[in-house]
Amino acid sequence: MRPKSNHSRSGGGRHPETEHLTAPSVVPGTARAAFLTAFHRSFHRSFLTAFLAILLPAWHGSLARAAEPVKLGLVLPYSSVYATLGNDITKGLELALGEADNRVAGREFVVLKQDSQVNPKVGLQIATRFIRSDKVDFLIGPVASHVAMAMRKAAHDSKTFMIIPNAGADPLTREQCSPYIFRTSFSNWQPYYPMGSWMAGPEGLRRVSLLAPNYAAGKQALSAFKESFIPAGGQVVSEQYPDLKETDYQPYLSRLAQEDTQAVFVFFAGSSAVKFVLQYKQAGLDKRFPLYASGFLVESSVLQAQGEAALGIKTSMHWADTMDNPANRRFVESYRKKFGGEHPSIYAMQGYDTGKVLLQALRKTGGNTSDKAALRKALETAEIDSPRGPFRFSGSHNPIQNIYVLQVVKGGHLGVENRIIGTAAENLEDPGTGCKM
Ligand code: PHB
Repeated sequence: MRPKSNHSRSGGGRHPETEHLTAPSVVPGTARAAFLTAFHRSFHRSFLTAFLAILLPAWHGSLARAAEPVKLGLVLPYSSVYATLGNDITKGLELALGEADNRVAGREFVVLKQDSQVNPKVGLQIATRFIRSDKVDFLIGPVASHVAMAMRKAAHDSKTFMIIPNAGADPLTREQCSPYIFRTSFSNWQPYYPMGSWMAGPEGLRRVSLLAPNYAAGKQALSAFKESFIPAGGQVVSEQYPDLKETDYQPYLSRLAQEDTQAVFVFFAGSSAVKFVLQYKQAGLDKRFPLYASGFLVESSVLQAQGEAALGIKTSMHWADTMDNPANRRFVESYRKKFGGEHPSIYAMQGYDTGKVLLQALRKTGGNTSDKAALRKALETAEIDSPRGPFRFSGSHNPIQNIYVLQVVKGGHLGVENRIIGTAAENLEDPGTGCKM
């Protein structure tokens, strides 16, 4: 405001650039004084004009930038087997942004949402549209590993930051890592590698049968499990890979029933997790072979539908809703308050942390999203007090975190709940093999 009033005061409404004044070589007496006054006035005017010509557009520009929203393009499943996962991530993210009044450094968040289903082609199409047409500042997603792999090149080539709130695809924080890709959840290796040694060690198991959906995450999960289970003296009796969209596990359970195995270890999530646990119990296999898994099998969003069929199942995971620390208590309470008493799932927690990391990084850059190097650094150095414990990224942009062993026991609001019974690994960092940035 100040420059404007100065301008009108000295300029008197005339445009100084149209006024020319040349100093004569000799200027006598009063004429000299008058000349100097006029010269000073004119000089001030020209100076102010130049000053304003530079400052005003910049000022207007920064105002325009301040008003420009930070665009987030959510590429998440809102249908198919992982629909609850996508919805919960969205809710967790919205909780975190809401806690900051949906803005950062004077910029408002605009959240665009598109349903990626569990389809890599659809995920890539949405990501491309978000990048090219909507010009999003961040891609947030996806849930499934094969969808994440399909989106990688679009994010990397366009230098669009992609924050993965779930998909564990190992290569994305290993040989296919990128300065623009960060993950707030886990690598597929993380929950499984420690569980192999736990089952061969404290659980004393030697013969185990394995099952997981037939796609990238299923393959990587079981491979990480074997990586520690076999060297520890364990033997894999069988490996079965039902289709990701399979709803009838009967043929797979029948095969298990014939096996000379001691336990079954699986990875299933979302609606597949509900169906698998109920059918396993129905087949009476729970009485013969104790069921082990990653925590996705019985996390809070599926546990209600599973009920007592889930009792006794032991899993490995980087968080449990029953964790007793101040950040988790606060998170669970505010989530329940915002979403009508609903308990947060692991996916909601990951969505929440995604929001927290984003907010912290953008506060550090003063809301600037165009200086990619500064934003990358701000993300890389983010440290948050996550409900899972202190959170920071590894050099390949994957969380360093504890992996707990949980067991479904009686108790809690559903009558069954996940209780932490041990720690399989502390501050576990994905090896990040082959990541060069
Ligand atoms: C994955 O595809 O990476 C994935 C999906 C669901 C989960 C965990 C991992 O619960």
